[in-house]
Order: sequence, then C-alpha cells, then structure tokens
Amino acid sequence: MIKIFAPASIGNVGVGFDILGVAISPIDGNLLGDSIEIMSSNQFHLINKGKFANELPSDNKKNIIWQSWNYFCKIIKKDIPVSITLEKNMPIGSGLGSSACSIVAGLVAMNEFCNKPLNTSKLLNLMGKLEGNISGSIHYDNVAPSYLGGLQLIIEENNIISQSIPIFKKWLWIVAWPGVNLSTEVSRALLPKKYTKEICIQHSKNLAGFIHASYTQQPNLATTFIKDIIAEPHRIKLIPNFSYAKKNVLEMGALSCSISGSGPTLFAICENITLAKKIAKWLTKHYLQNKKGFVHICNVNNVGACKIGE
Ligand code: HSE
Repeated sequence: MIKIFAPASIGNVGVGFDILGVAISPIDGNLLGDSIEIMSSNQFHLINKGKFANELPSDNKKNIIWQSWNYFCKIIKKDIPVSITLEKNMPIGSGLGSSACSIVAGLVAMNEFCNKPLNTSKLLNLMGKLEGNISGSIHYDNVAPSYLGGLQLIIEENNIISQSIPIFKKWLWIVAWPGVNLSTEVSRALLPKKYTKEICIQHSKNLAGFIHASYTQQPNLATTFIKDIIAEPHRIKLIPNFSYAKKNVLEMGALSCSISGSGPTLFAICENITLAKKIAKWLTKHYLQNKKGFVHICNVNNVGACKIGE
C-alpha cells in the first residue's frame, strides 16, 4: 500500500496570473491538502472519505481520481486494477488548488505504484491536462507547486513546464476560506478576452519586478509588486466582503493581500507572527461566512507531494 499527500497551493500569488503558484502548509502542523492510498485489487475501486468527500460527484466516473487513473492507464498503455482511497480534506472550489491536490496525489500514487513509468515532466504535463478538463483551460499554477513544492514559475519552454523561484523565508501566508464555493470555470469565464496595452505593460513590470526581487532577496520590493490587475478587479464582485477584508488586513499591517487562485480564499502576507495571529483572528470573525470556513497561518511547503504514513 502506498499513501501520498499533496499540499494546498495559492495560484497566481496576486502577480502572476496562471504562471505563479506557491505550495503552503499550516505552521501548526495541520495537513492542508488531499491524500491518496493505493493498493492492488482485482478491478478499479474508489472510496471517498475525508471532511469534504460529500462534495464529490456521486458518479465515480466524474471523480477526478477516476479520470486521472483512466488517463494514466492510457498513457502507459496498460490497465492497472487498483483500489484507491481518496481522503478529500480540501473544499472544492475554494481557490486553494483543491482539484490539483487530488490530481497530484492521485497521479503520483499511481506512478509510484507502477514503479515510475512517467518522469516528472510527463507527469506534470498530465496533471495540467486533467486540471484543464475541470477548469476549462490548462493552467499549471496549482498542480506545479502541489507536485514540486515551493514557489513555481510556469515557463512551458524547452520541454520545461515549471521552475522554482527563491522564496522569502520570513513570510507567513495567511489564508482564509470563507466557507463558500466558487467554480474556477465560472471565475475564469468572466475575465476579459483582451487587455489594454497599459495593463499589459503594468502587469509585465509587476511580475518581472517580483521575480527580480525574489532573486535579489528584497522582500519589501517584492510585496510592492504583488498587485493583481488581471483577475482581481473582475472577480471581486463574486466574492462577498473581499474588498472590505483586504482594506482592513492591509490597514492592520499585512504586506500584501489578494485572491488565492480563482477565489473565494483570501491570502495575506506578513513577517511577524503576532501580527499574523491578529490578522487571522480578524479574518475568522469578519471574513468567514459559516462554520465550515477556516483560516490558517502557513509557511511555504518546499516538499510538494510526498509519501506519508511509512
Ligand atoms: N490561475 C487560475 C485562475 C487558478 O486564477 O483561474 C485557479 O485556481
């Protein structure tokens, strides 16, 4: 039996729409992500458990794990009868890379189970395709960090999909999921088809500036570039209280604040644990809409998908 865990991630990181993502783990040791157990069987069998298993489609063929298994078998040209248990700990449509967690854990588990027929690049390619089936278009900014860990820049050139970018070790990432779901497909569909030259120039400056600040380890400069002028202005109308929460979080002293992935999770960055706790407390009180919602203070997860329980 093999058990694989894949961590949650923040897509876009405010400044790199579709091409920047970071894997995160709560500092209190809680596991934020999905896990997969796989073992041999006479035929394909899928069991869903975990806090958010009831949000999964009842038809297993619509489950991303069945789709991952089906695709994987086609690629390796072999039918592998396995029994898979998905522990769905991530809320669906949260903006924390929930589908990516399942896809990554599922494919890494299958690849391990079959003695790694696919290399990192082929596996990541497959993860992107499956993510694209769910959200309407391929984007790697959740699957890449969830698989590889760290802060990932999607380059898709020279047969390389993603590259690691230096992180700021002191940064604490506060994530607040309000307890409601937002379809990635819907929040992608509402984005403009075209952007003006001014927006393109500003966006290039922000992303290039952020990457430069990362390589030269200038955290204050980096946070000034975390400005989302591509998605956030169009998506805030789908996220109740986001603007109010962002204003307050920044006034409290957060270095940056934006939408995690396609929302509705909000993320904020700060360097001081006392302030992080204060912000987390405020978000718990003012941003969560129900008891399902949660707030976590996180570090970057530099490991990505890994075996657990051995
Ligand atoms: N980059 C994607 C988007 C992430 O913003 O639509 C989805 O989680």
